[in-house]
Amino acid sequence: MRDPKRVAILISGRGSNMRALVEQAKNYEVVLVASNKPQAAGLEWAKERGLQTWSLESKGSDKEAYDRTLSAVLEDYCVGTIALAGFMRIVSPWFVEEWAGRIVNIHPSLLPKYRGLDTHTRAIAAGDKVSGCSVHVVTEELDAGEVLGQAEVDIEADDTPDTLEQRVLAAEHRLYPKILNEFVLR
Ligand code: GRF
Repeated sequence: MRDPKRVAILISGRGSNMRALVEQAKNYEVVLVASNKPQAAGLEWAKERGLQTWSLESKGSDKEAYDRTLSAVLEDYCVGTIALAGFMRIVSPWFVEEWAGRIVNIHPSLLPKYRGLDTHTRAIAAGDKVSGCSVHVVTEELDAGEVLGQAEVDIEADDTPDTLEQRVLAAEHRLYPKILNEFVLR
């Protein structure tokens, strides 16, 4: 049985958003941290914290076959909500349909602006005065599902992509748990 309050977090790297989601959980329980990169730094933190973890390298494997394996693991944990947190892999249409409406993601721009990568570089290059982050439902189209919440961050005149990223990341760590705590109730 899938329980919306049983959350799996999917990561590929350092996992700072994962940490925020774990530390600020109110209405949900993080029952699994999964990664497509066995070396992901975030996995170590999750293990030290006593969380269940699972990882399997995705490189070289058939996309849908990989997603079916992952999906079966999620079912084993009775997961009902999937939070992507720096999961650097586009999931297959099969996976999106299988978990329709139950996958959320954090993206470092004010969607619909700057879908995809290099969002901070693009925002600065465009001369934007404001950037930020968005939590959205995952659909088949990249970074295009329903926006559940956003946080704005001012772009300063001397910002580089790195300095902007740091401030947006801090905003992500506040926004994502807040939105997920609401989302699991709906
Ligand atoms: C964040 O910028 C997030 O918005 C994007 O990937 C990055 C993940 O960082 N989707 P972390 O692994 O959570 O530290």
